[in-house]
Order: sequence, then C-alpha cells, then structure tokens
Amino acid sequence: MLEPTQKPILLKIAPDLNNNQLDEIIEIVAETKIDGIIASNTSTSRSGLKASKKQLQEIGNGGLSGLPIKEKSTRVIKYLKDTSNKAFPIIGVGGIHSAEDALEKIEAGADLVQIYTGFIYEGPGLIKQINKALLK
Ligand SMILES: Cc1cc2nc3c(=O)[nH]c(=O)nc-3n(C[C@H](O)[C@H](O)[C@H](O)COP(=O)(O)O)c2cc1C
Repeated sequence: MLEPTQKPILLKIAPDLNNNQLDEIIEIVAETKIDGIIASNTSTSRSGLKASKKQLQEIGNGGLSGLPIKEKSTRVIKYLKDTSNKAFPIIGVGGIHSAEDALEKIEAGADLVQIYTGFIYEGPGLIKQINKALLK
C-alpha cells in the first residue's frame, strides 16, 4: 500500500501586522514546523484610499485587495524573508497587476506568487506577461 502523502500546510497572514507580530509569526513557523507563509491576505485598513469617509461607510467592512495593499504585502514579505534568514518559503500575494509587480514580490523574497484581484482586472494575459518577464 502507498503511504499517504503529507500535504504542505501554509499560514496566510494579513498585510496589517506590525514587526512585533511578524516576529511572533516567525517563531510560530519554527515551533510548529509549518511549511511556509502566504503573505498576504486582504487588509482591514482603509488608509491611503481616495474614497471619502462617507463612501467607505456605505461600502462597509470587508477585506481590501488589489493595488491599495501592494506595498503593505511587499513590506511583510521583505521583513519575513530578511528577519527569518530565509527560513521558510513565502508565497507573495497582494496587488500584483503587472509583471513588474510580480518581480517586485520575488525581489522582496517571495518564492512563488499568487494573483487574485489582478487576474480579474487584467485577465489571463497577465500570467503570460509575468512568465515572459521571469524568463528575461
Ligand atoms: C472576493 C475575495 C475572496 C477571497 N477569498 C479567499 C479565500 O477564500 N481564501 C483565501 O485564502 N484568500 C481569499 N482571498 C484573499 C486573496 O487570495 C488574496 O490573498 C488577497 O486578495 C490579496 O491578493 P490580491 O491583491 O491579488 O487580490 C479573497 C480575496 C477576495 C478579494
């Protein structure tokens, strides 16, 4: 009989975590031997948006994704990679809408990238653009 293969388990974190919280994440990965981190999920913050307070109130709560979270996600990836001394794989996600955005995530320390909002706004051609940029 074949041995059951163990599936990798990764922890997905918010882009809103501060450095102390990210230090705790690094400890948790070491303690639990979890297989890696996905950085990041959506944001609960509304900072830096052009929409008025009234508009934001009407829209209500929910996770913010896409370009407004791009830099936050990249910062989290870079902090985790540098501080953990590359101890675990990181999947970079958050605001990738172009090949340049994907390269930025990889340069920050992502081993893989994931696209969600960018896929909706830019379409499947984005994957081809990213692959071409990676080959270059
Ligand atoms: C409508 C919507 C639904 C989502 N559902 C999930 C989910 O079920 N599980 C999950 O891990 N992340 C979920 N996410 C988070 C995305 O996978 C991604 O981490 C986040 O949106 C940031 O990437 P992006 O800027 O490319 O969208 C969701 C995001 C959106 C916008």
